[in-house]
Amino acid sequence: MPHLIIDTDAGIDDAHALMMALKHPNADIAAITTVNGNVEVEQVTRNVAKILDACGVDAPIYQGASAPLVAPHFFAKHVHGDDGLGDANLPESPRTAEDEHAVNALLRMVDDAPGEYTLVALGPLTNIALAARLDPTFPSKLNDFIFMGGTIAAHGNVSFVAEFNIFVDPEATHIVLDSFPMATMLSWETTMQHSIDWNWVIAWLAADTPLGRFNAAISQQIINFGKSVGGESAGFAMPDPLAMAVALEPDIVLEAQTQYMSVELNGTHTRGQTLVDWVDRYKQPHNIRLITQVNLDRFRELLLQTVQ
Ligand code: RIB
Ligand code: CA
Repeated sequence: MPHLIIDTDAGIDDAHALMMALKHPNADIAAITTVNGNVEVEQVTRNVAKILDACGVDAPIYQGASAPLVAPHFFAKHVHGDDGLGDANLPESPRTAEDEHAVNALLRMVDDAPGEYTLVALGPLTNIALAARLDPTFPSKLNDFIFMGGTIAAHGNVSFVAEFNIFVDPEATHIVLDSFPMATMLSWETTMQHSIDWNWVIAWLAADTPLGRFNAAISQQIINFGKSVGGESAGFAMPDPLAMAVALEPDIVLEAQTQYMSVELNGTHTRGQTLVDWVDRYKQPHNIRLITQVNLDRFRELLLQTVQ
């Protein structure tokens, strides 16, 4: 089982993913880094502290970038609530972030233990890009790098063609694609293809355990949003938990392929679109491993574990 560093903009689905990792019997969470995204980074840090309290697990928190590299702020409070955890008004945690900046912590940890850590990014890639620019050898010192983000068929969730994490900081994505010889990507389209039936979700939210009640308290807003955009038939799209499941159990992947991918920085309607060269037109080295099918039964089992 890998030693994980989780970079997050928690976020309700980030919370589901963090609970999945924190409750996994074989996972080792070495650090959690926070980044501006769904809500302000300071709020993300407070949310991670609450999630650690709820799970009864200790892990160091390092606070990271408070803004995208170039783009203006673009929050998702209509999805995750003003506080990022469904405005559930949970008690504040006494936990605080370490003094060290997240990017410096990332560089220090991989320097101290090259090849040890799998980095899982669940938000905009701002911290990852800063680390790669501060130390160009950073990517080579990771065991693996998996991120939730992007589109592979121009089906966006915040614009015609862009997925939120990439749209918030396209320049960071450009730097990551330029710096990492290979990264594993869980796209918005793959997320939608692995949506969870609403009846199953309702039973999941009714788990009569402390974590089940925590999950129900934070999840209502994103459930309402999911139903409002997808309708009953579409099911519940769970992007960050699906990316986390791939990181925790690589054998859960049933189908994946490598391709060359770039990102649009300038288009009026297409800024933040990730672009896959499906026909090798540009003859570039493949830089992305696209997950296209995951074992859904095992994914549901991992979700059930989060509320035990
Ligand atoms: O597009 C979905 C992604 O954007 C998820 O990571 C969600 O938490 C938001 O950050
Ligand atoms: Ca997220």
